[in-house]
Amino acid sequence: MTDSWDTIADWYTALLRAGSAMNDFNRDVLLEHLPDELGGHRVLDLGCGEGVIARAVAARGASVVGIDPSPRMIEHAKSAVAGRAGTVSYSVDDGCVLRTVATDSVDWVTAGLSLNNVPDLDAALSAVRRVLTVHGSLVFTIPHPCFEAPHATWTQTEDGTARRVVGAYLAEGFWRSTNPEAVRRAGNQHRTLSTYLMALVRQGFVLDAITEPAPGCQLAAAQPQRAGLPPFLAVRAHRG
Ligand SMILES: C[S@@+](CC[C@H](N)C(=O)[O-])C[C@H]1O[C@@H](n2cnc3c(N)ncnc32)[C@H](O)[C@@H]1O
Repeated sequence: MTDSWDTIADWYTALLRAGSAMNDFNRDVLLEHLPDELGGHRVLDLGCGEGVIARAVAARGASVVGIDPSPRMIEHAKSAVAGRAGTVSYSVDDGCVLRTVATDSVDWVTAGLSLNNVPDLDAALSAVRRVLTVHGSLVFTIPHPCFEAPHATWTQTEDGTARRVVGAYLAEGFWRSTNPEAVRRAGNQHRTLSTYLMALVRQGFVLDAITEPAPGCQLAAAQPQRAGLPPFLAVRAHRG
């Protein structure tokens, strides 16, 4: 069977809920770009998966809608907020269309590790721009495209130091990890850094911040070989 986000949704949910240093770090990298206090703000979490970012944003006081094309992910996201008073709701939707989200209806769009899954980046950014209010902003993270290019791997130098081997940075498009334990066995759209930034410009966004944080303590302890490389790229841009 060929994996998709829907077929690995149970596995992905269990991975995150058991505590994943990598995914916790990604959430924290993204949250760094949002105000601590989001009371009165409306947030769309695009590609919400099992809801890790939507819940964290709601905990800051925002009213959050999460969308994801995987019905199974949405089931898991809903189950994590069932019975809780709060302001998170979820729908099955495609980030390239955002059919369920009204025009000019949200102050922020968050997209944690999801724009690297949409097949049409310009369509997704155009949809994001449509749903944002005039002063709204997009905050997204992606696996750092320079170091997480298709089939990047690790090697060891003679002194035992781990080094990342990247051979296909310019090979844009869909690829799938052959590692049965890898998240990207579900597939992933690789794009270069300039492709992301130029798509933002084309779709009328203005860049406010771009960060490449070094792994935090928890991640560095779990995966010491990553100590010198930023696993994620985070971008904040407002509607121009
Ligand atoms: C790595 S998971 C990230 C989920 C969540 N944001 C998190 O941080 O755990 C990638 C998510 O992107 C979603 N995705 C794939 N194609 C998408 C699309 N066209 N629009 C929106 N989300 C999409 C997948 O279903 C999956 O839930």
